[in-house]
Amino acid sequence: MVDRVQELLKENENLKRIIQNNHIYTLDDQIAQFISLCMVHMKRIITELRLEEYDPKNIERIKRLMNFFENLKQEVEKNIYAIDTLHSLSLDIKQTFLKGWLNKMKTVSFINFKGGVGKTTISVNTAYALSNTLENIKVLFIDNDKQGNASNWLGADLSKGSIAHLMMGDATVKEIIQHTNYQNMDLIPADNGLIDVQSALIKNESVNQATILKNALKAVEKDYDICIVDNPPDINVSVLNALAITDEVVIVTTPDPDSLSGADQMLKQINMVKALNKRLTIRGILVNSYTSDDSTFTALDDLKGYELPIFKTKIHYATKSAKKNLILARRSNKTIFEQYPNCLVARDIWQFTKELLYIK
Ligand SMILES: Nc1ncnc2c1ncn2[C@@H]1O[C@H](COP(=O)(O)OP(=O)(O)OP(=O)(O)O)[C@@H](O)[C@H]1O
Ligand SMILES: [Mg+2]
Repeated sequence: MVDRVQELLKENENLKRIIQNNHIYTLDDQIAQFISLCMVHMKRIITELRLEEYDPKNIERIKRLMNFFENLKQEVEKNIYAIDTLHSLSLDIKQTFLKGWLNKMKTVSFINFKGGVGKTTISVNTAYALSNTLENIKVLFIDNDKQGNASNWLGADLSKGSIAHLMMGDATVKEIIQHTNYQNMDLIPADNGLIDVQSALIKNESVNQATILKNALKAVEKDYDICIVDNPPDINVSVLNALAITDEVVIVTTPDPDSLSGADQMLKQINMVKALNKRLTIRGILVNSYTSDDSTFTALDDLKGYELPIFKTKIHYATKSAKKNLILARRSNKTIFEQYPNCLVARDIWQFTKELLYIK
């Protein structure tokens, strides 16, 4: 019995260390509650042990507590991935700063001409991963798509204005930026008002059409560390404006010939915009809806032909409950991490976030 208690005491110490090292308050409530329960019960074990040693009732009570612990331990093991991810992110973030990746607001654009490849899914969830995990990192999310999918997902209030107002010069950036449900993430939302912007701007030759967003954002760029832009499946004035503020482009593609050809056209456009924005680089191609089958392997071989970096992380195709939860998350204005943190898509997006930050 004493050995077992020693073991539990050791475990208690480990848990304390996990709490300290991992800023446990960022974990979901379930784990935080579990750990505080562990502490309470551990104290009770110790108190009980101090009572008369040979009382059979005490032994019985301790046994019950042991069982309780076993169950809780299993709970934590189910969530161990979340702990591991948060742990490595919080530990290694300093390295990122040292590399200077974030010495000014860094803008990352998610792009592909082809629709439905996962730009919105990945950009929204990556923005959440960045804002929720890294302490003191402020994220600005720009929805640059007239479909407003990311805005809906993030629960935007479109009565407060949108990127269309900004592009038309009808509002300042400070007037249209809104808070999201997440402490460290703000949003510039979009809606179909962007359709009128395209035609209005094309007619107006008196402004430099591609740098409206760039000029507008100057007033807030000191307030944020990372800006994530979700783009439409299109090339238009809005996308050119996004490219003019972008440091790194992530080309999202699914492993099929249509999406790859979308990526190909995108590359040509990006190279043209480089004249406008010298900082613009293509960070890499991100493969979404990955499955282990021959057609995917062939598509990946084709991708290598572009001679562009390809992210090591692949976002797996969500099936069954993961797919259901992905849809549910979107419908209920939750990220996949809140809806179903242990599904493969959530794990892959964590992994991608780390790769984006050059962590491992
Ligand atoms: N890894 C995945 N596995 C399964 N389904 C996915 C995955 N990623 C995205 N989806 C689904 O594919 C659909 C399109 O995703 P999403 O809206 O993110 O694409 P998009 O590129 O932003 O589209 P658009 O070009 O219209 O803006 C959604 O229903 C989404 O739930
Ligand atoms: Mg989209």
